[in-house]
Amino acid sequence: APAQLLAGKKLTITAGPTREALDPVRYISNHSSGKMGFALAAEAVRLGADVTLISGPVNLPTPQGCQRVDVTSAEQMLAASLAVAEQQDIFIGCAAVADYRAAEIAPEKLKKQGDRIAIELIKNPDIIASVAEQTSNTIVVGFAAETQNIAQYARNKLTQKGLHMIAANDVSGNDIGFNANDNALSVFWHDGQHTIEQSSKQQVAAQLLALIQQHLMQ
Ligand code: C5P
Repeated sequence: APAQLLAGKKLTITAGPTREALDPVRYISNHSSGKMGFALAAEAVRLGADVTLISGPVNLPTPQGCQRVDVTSAEQMLAASLAVAEQQDIFIGCAAVADYRAAEIAPEKLKKQGDRIAIELIKNPDIIASVAEQTSNTIVVGFAAETQNIAQYARNKLTQKGLHMIAANDVSGNDIGFNANDNALSVFWHDGQHTIEQSSKQQVAAQLLALIQQHLMQ
């Protein structure tokens, strides 16, 4: 058995995309597979943590031993997150939350119209920033998918969202990140940084949890 680095710790992870309805049959979403968040949940269970996995719509089996909460929209993911955040030792926001949702969800299926139509969108709440703001003793860790200036954009998000750590992946290639089985991360916290080299999402998850334990939990 691995050293139970997170024995007795409560950990919540958000994973997958959110899905924002336009009408009863259509939605806006993204290609997040949920693999990284599910790998983190599985690894945290292995390390002895009490794990809650808040998941958007994905096609993945629930890792053994964690409690899964299924949600669809960003607003639902926010509510599920805030309901548990204060009781957690660690909250990791791995979900690819849709930045915008329809200003109004049409109650009936939208009819086909002219050659060009417009749909008004409004900004979704920032879930991880809300969790960071509304908790006092929870370690809050975010992710950032970047294609350029990774360190600078990631450090800005660390500060602006009030996080303790941020894990940035370079999504400019297609062998890592979204939907891939491998990942590599540049991890930043207020007084340090560490590169996790390309590896399986399971191994990357183990290294990220070890960094959290080493640098944020003493
Ligand atoms: O701002 P950006 O989307 O790049 O930030 C990514 C991080 O913020 C991830 O941890 C993601 O889960 C979180 N996020 C969020 N709510 C949003 C947008 C992003 O929690 N509405």
